[in-house]
Amino acid sequence: MSDQAEKLRQMTLHSSIPTSPIIKQSAKSRVITVTSGKGGVGKTNFTVNLALALAALNKKVLVIDADLGMANVEVVLGCSATYTILNLLEDGLKIADIATEGPRGIKFMAGGSGIYHLANLSDAHLNHIIGQISLFDNWADFILIDTGAGISRNVLNFVVAADEVIIITTPEPTAITDAYAMVKAYAGQKGTAPLKLVINRIVDRDEGQMVVDKLMRVSQRFLNVAIDHLGYVYEDRNMVKAVKSQIPLLISFPEAISSRCIEDIAQQILHGKNVQQRPRGMKGFFYKFLEYM
Ligand SMILES: Nc1ncnc2c1ncn2[C@@H]1O[C@H](COP(=O)(O)OP(=O)(O)OP(=O)(O)O)[C@@H](O)[C@H]1O
Ligand SMILES: [Mg+2]
Repeated sequence: MSDQAEKLRQMTLHSSIPTSPIIKQSAKSRVITVTSGKGGVGKTNFTVNLALALAALNKKVLVIDADLGMANVEVVLGCSATYTILNLLEDGLKIADIATEGPRGIKFMAGGSGIYHLANLSDAHLNHIIGQISLFDNWADFILIDTGAGISRNVLNFVVAADEVIIITTPEPTAITDAYAMVKAYAGQKGTAPLKLVINRIVDRDEGQMVVDKLMRVSQRFLNVAIDHLGYVYEDRNMVKAVKSQIPLLISFPEAISSRCIEDIAQQILHGKNVQQRPRGMKGFFYKFLEYM
């Protein structure tokens, strides 16, 4: 681990994470929360592989596992994180120490349960942590947050505080209903970030398009919420094989149809509709998160 920490420290020197918590006026990172409503629809695999697709396009990506206690991201990535955000208060650890490096130079952090202790910290400790976390705004182009299942307040915290939200569903009616419930909960919290829809595990495009039309229509009609369609991911056995081998899909099966779909979505995120031009970044995320908490 100390080798890892040293590597990250070296890297930060060369990639402009400053050593003091000076907060830039214009934050750079686009903080994107991935959520679904229903569990098991593919959030974690999508998040990790999207991170790898963005990294292949020369973007710097940090993945935060917000699925409290489940360490899902670690399982999909096949590497483990040692620290959580709270470790920033111990042993003089810096942000560069607590982020673990994964494939293609992406970094990941178990945001985990530690995040909920932030509310109990003194202002000085909290400012220290926020200062450290905000350093990522100078490094990361994207911060992808993988949430747990459900529409609990825990999950909504991460959704409401993000710059952009990706909602994933499969074509199953239960998943669609839960995705709609998430849009409704978000609207109820007066969320303002653009909502983007990904349909996972489609068998053909017609099936995907039907789900998109349905969700967009009811959200607009009953909630007055506009959703952008970001893309589809096909049902693909390679996804299951990748999970079993704990080598992410984009690395183990780069030519697979589902890999291509996720690469297309990465392109959409970079160049598609409603690209967030003025992200609030990690600092903005944290203030909003704490305010909501
Ligand atoms: N496109 C796909 N094709 C085939 N299988 C898939 C696809 N996407 C996901 N899966 C399967 O679904 C399983 C669940 O995926 P994943 O763990 O990413 O879901 P999740 O939404 O993060 O679940 P949770 O809500 O429990 O966190 C995977 O292990 C894989 O077997
Ligand atoms: Mg998951």
